Amino acid sequence: LKLGVLGSGSGSNMQAILDAIDSGELHAEIVLVLSDNPEGYILERARKAGIVAEVIDCGGYKTKFPEEKQAAVAAQLKEAGVELVCLAGFMRLVKQPMLDVFPERILNIHPSLLPAYPGLMAWKQAVDDGAQESGCTVHYVDAGMDTGPIIKQAKVPVLADDTADSLHQRIQVEEHKLYPEVVAAIGQKLRQ
Ligand code: GRF
Repeated sequence: LKLGVLGSGSGSNMQAILDAIDSGELHAEIVLVLSDNPEGYILERARKAGIVAEVIDCGGYKTKFPEEKQAAVAAQLKEAGVELVCLAGFMRLVKQPMLDVFPERILNIHPSLLPAYPGLMAWKQAVDDGAQESGCTVHYVDAGMDTGPIIKQAKVPVLADDTADSLHQRIQVEEHKLYPEVVAAIGQKLRQ
Protein backbone atom coordinates (compact mmCIF):
# COMPACT_ATOMS: atom_id res chain seq x y z
CA LEU A 1 0.00 0.00 0.00
CA LYS A 2 1.63 3.21 -1.12
CA LEU A 3 0.98 6.13 1.20
CA GLY A 4 1.33 9.86 0.75
CA VAL A 5 1.37 11.97 3.92
CA LEU A 6 0.48 15.66 4.14
CA GLY A 7 1.40 17.60 7.27
CA SER A 8 2.30 21.02 8.56
CA GLY A 9 3.97 20.45 11.90
CA SER A 10 5.99 18.02 13.96
CA GLY A 11 4.98 14.91 12.06
CA SER A 12 4.68 12.63 15.07
CA ASN A 13 1.76 10.81 13.44
CA MET A 14 3.75 10.33 10.24
CA GLN A 15 6.52 8.95 12.47
CA ALA A 16 4.08 6.55 14.15
CA ILE A 17 3.03 5.24 10.74
CA LEU A 18 6.70 4.83 9.78
CA ASP A 19 7.45 2.99 13.02
CA ALA A 20 4.53 0.63 12.44
CA ILE A 21 5.87 -0.09 8.95
CA ASP A 22 9.36 -0.74 10.34
CA SER A 23 8.07 -3.09 13.00
CA GLY A 24 6.06 -5.05 10.45
CA GLU A 25 2.65 -4.17 11.93
CA LEU A 26 1.72 -2.20 8.84
CA HIS A 27 2.40 -3.48 5.35
CA ALA A 28 2.81 -0.20 3.54
CA GLU A 29 5.33 2.27 2.29
CA ILE A 30 5.35 6.06 2.58
CA VAL A 31 6.42 7.23 -0.85
CA LEU A 32 5.91 10.98 -0.53
CA VAL A 33 5.61 13.51 2.29
CA LEU A 34 4.41 17.04 1.61
CA SER A 35 4.26 20.00 3.99
CA ASP A 36 2.83 23.45 3.37
CA ASN A 37 5.15 24.66 6.14
CA PRO A 38 8.81 24.70 5.08
CA GLU A 39 9.79 24.67 8.77
CA GLY A 40 7.65 21.63 9.61
CA TYR A 41 9.74 19.00 11.38
CA ILE A 42 7.74 16.42 9.43
CA LEU A 43 10.00 17.16 6.43
CA GLU A 44 13.14 16.44 8.40
CA ARG A 45 11.72 13.25 9.89
CA ALA A 46 10.80 12.04 6.42
CA ARG A 47 14.17 12.86 4.90
CA LYS A 48 15.95 11.11 7.76
CA ALA A 49 13.98 8.03 6.80
CA GLY A 50 14.98 8.43 3.16
CA ILE A 51 11.52 9.50 2.01
CA VAL A 52 11.02 12.16 -0.65
CA ALA A 53 9.74 15.21 1.22
CA GLU A 54 8.75 18.46 -0.42
CA VAL A 55 7.18 21.80 0.39
CA ILE A 56 3.78 22.78 -0.97
CA ASP A 57 4.11 26.44 -1.83
CA CYS A 58 0.73 28.05 -1.22
CA GLY A 59 1.90 31.36 -2.59
CA GLY A 60 1.79 33.37 0.61
CA TYR A 61 -1.79 32.39 1.56
CA LYS A 62 -1.88 31.65 5.28
CA THR A 63 -4.75 29.17 5.35
CA LYS A 64 -6.09 28.89 1.81
CA PHE A 65 -5.17 25.85 -0.29
CA PRO A 66 -5.70 27.23 -3.82
CA GLU A 67 -7.53 24.95 -6.25
CA GLU A 68 -4.72 24.90 -8.78
CA LYS A 69 -2.32 23.91 -5.98
CA GLN A 70 -4.63 21.07 -4.99
CA ALA A 71 -4.65 19.89 -8.59
CA ALA A 72 -0.86 19.97 -8.69
CA VAL A 73 -0.56 18.12 -5.37
CA ALA A 74 -3.06 15.47 -6.52
CA ALA A 75 -1.05 14.97 -9.70
CA GLN A 76 2.19 14.71 -7.75
CA LEU A 77 0.69 12.12 -5.39
CA LYS A 78 -0.65 10.09 -8.34
CA GLU A 79 2.68 10.33 -10.10
CA ALA A 80 4.37 8.89 -7.00
CA GLY A 81 1.92 5.97 -7.10
CA VAL A 82 0.10 6.97 -3.91
CA GLU A 83 -2.98 4.83 -3.21
CA LEU A 84 -3.99 6.31 0.14
CA VAL A 85 -3.44 9.87 1.36
CA CYS A 86 -2.99 10.46 5.10
CA LEU A 87 -3.47 13.96 6.46
CA ALA A 88 -1.40 14.18 9.63
CA GLY A 89 -1.59 17.61 11.18
CA PHE A 90 -2.21 19.25 7.80
CA MET A 91 -3.60 22.70 8.50
CA ARG A 92 -5.39 23.47 5.22
CA LEU A 93 -8.77 22.29 3.99
CA VAL A 94 -8.55 19.66 1.28
CA LYS A 95 -11.28 20.02 -1.34
CA GLN A 96 -11.80 19.49 -5.05
CA PRO A 97 -9.95 18.50 -7.10
CA MET A 98 -8.05 16.37 -4.57
CA LEU A 99 -11.26 14.70 -3.43
CA ASP A 100 -12.11 13.79 -7.04
CA VAL A 101 -8.68 12.32 -7.71
CA PHE A 102 -8.69 10.30 -4.44
CA PRO A 103 -12.33 9.45 -3.72
CA GLU A 104 -12.58 7.76 -0.30
CA ARG A 105 -8.82 7.56 -0.30
CA ILE A 106 -8.00 10.51 1.94
CA LEU A 107 -7.86 10.06 5.72
CA ASN A 108 -7.46 12.56 8.52
CA ILE A 109 -6.72 12.27 12.21
CA HIS A 110 -8.41 14.75 14.49
CA PRO A 111 -7.73 15.25 18.22
CA SER A 112 -11.29 14.93 19.53
CA LEU A 113 -14.19 12.53 19.53
CA LEU A 114 -15.88 13.94 16.44
CA PRO A 115 -18.45 15.33 15.87
CA ALA A 116 -17.45 17.10 19.11
CA TYR A 117 -14.90 19.89 18.76
CA PRO A 118 -14.10 20.11 15.07
CA GLY A 119 -11.61 22.72 13.91
CA LEU A 120 -8.55 24.19 15.55
CA MET A 121 -7.08 23.20 18.92
CA ALA A 122 -9.73 20.64 19.68
CA TRP A 123 -7.92 19.62 22.86
CA LYS A 124 -8.20 23.20 24.16
CA GLN A 125 -11.88 23.30 23.19
CA ALA A 126 -12.43 20.15 25.28
CA VAL A 127 -10.64 21.56 28.35
CA ASP A 128 -12.40 24.94 28.07
CA ASP A 129 -15.74 23.19 27.72
CA GLY A 130 -15.18 21.11 30.87
CA ALA A 131 -15.48 17.83 28.93
CA GLN A 132 -14.99 14.66 31.02
CA GLU A 133 -13.71 12.70 28.09
CA SER A 134 -12.02 13.33 24.77
CA GLY A 135 -9.87 11.38 22.35
CA CYS A 136 -9.09 11.14 18.69
CA THR A 137 -10.85 10.22 15.49
CA VAL A 138 -9.66 8.87 12.15
CA HIS A 139 -12.13 9.76 9.42
CA TYR A 140 -12.46 9.95 5.67
CA VAL A 141 -12.03 13.46 4.38
CA ASP A 142 -14.91 15.22 2.68
CA ALA A 143 -15.25 18.88 1.69
CA GLY A 144 -16.22 20.02 5.20
CA MET A 145 -14.01 20.71 8.18
CA ASP A 146 -13.56 17.43 10.11
CA THR A 147 -16.96 16.21 8.92
CA GLY A 148 -16.22 13.11 6.85
CA PRO A 149 -17.38 9.57 7.75
CA ILE A 150 -15.81 8.36 11.00
CA ILE A 151 -13.73 5.19 10.77
CA LYS A 152 -12.48 4.70 14.32
CA GLN A 153 -12.05 6.57 17.58
CA ALA A 154 -10.02 6.18 20.77
CA LYS A 155 -11.05 7.74 24.06
CA VAL A 156 -9.02 9.32 26.84
CA PRO A 157 -10.22 10.82 30.12
CA VAL A 158 -9.96 14.55 30.74
CA LEU A 159 -8.48 14.96 34.22
CA ALA A 160 -9.40 17.70 36.67
CA ASP A 161 -5.98 19.33 36.50
CA ASP A 162 -5.51 18.97 32.74
CA THR A 163 -4.20 21.87 30.71
CA ALA A 164 -4.73 22.05 26.97
CA ASP A 165 -1.17 20.74 26.59
CA SER A 166 -1.41 17.83 28.98
CA LEU A 167 -4.64 16.69 27.34
CA HIS A 168 -3.12 17.01 23.89
CA GLN A 169 -0.19 14.82 24.98
CA ARG A 170 -2.53 12.12 26.29
CA ILE A 171 -4.52 12.26 23.04
CA GLN A 172 -1.37 12.01 20.93
CA VAL A 173 -0.36 8.76 22.63
CA GLU A 174 -3.65 7.30 21.36
CA GLU A 175 -3.30 8.92 17.92
CA HIS A 176 0.02 7.18 17.42
CA LYS A 177 -1.65 3.80 17.96
CA LEU A 178 -4.94 4.51 16.21
CA TYR A 179 -3.67 5.95 12.93
CA PRO A 180 -1.34 3.06 11.94
CA GLU A 181 -4.01 0.58 13.03
CA VAL A 182 -6.66 2.17 10.79
CA VAL A 183 -4.26 2.46 7.84
CA ALA A 184 -3.43 -1.24 8.22
CA ALA A 185 -7.13 -2.16 8.29
CA ILE A 186 -7.84 -0.10 5.18
CA GLY A 187 -4.85 -1.63 3.45
CA GLN A 188 -6.28 -5.08 4.12
CA LYS A 189 -9.68 -4.05 2.85
CA LEU A 190 -8.20 -2.62 -0.35
CA ARG A 191 -6.28 -5.83 -0.99
CA GLN A 192 -9.37 -8.03 -0.76
C1 GRF B 1 -2.42 15.94 15.85
O1 GRF B 1 -2.85 16.14 17.16
C2 GRF B 1 -3.58 15.75 14.91
O2 GRF B 1 -4.68 15.16 15.50
C3 GRF B 1 -3.91 17.16 14.53
O3 GRF B 1 -2.68 17.82 14.46
C4 GRF B 1 -1.73 17.17 15.29
C5 GRF B 1 -0.56 16.82 14.41
O4 GRF B 1 0.54 16.35 15.15
N1 GRF B 1 -4.70 17.16 13.31
P1 GRF B 1 1.79 15.73 14.40
O5 GRF B 1 2.29 16.74 13.37
O6 GRF B 1 1.40 14.44 13.78
O7 GRF B 1 2.82 15.56 15.50
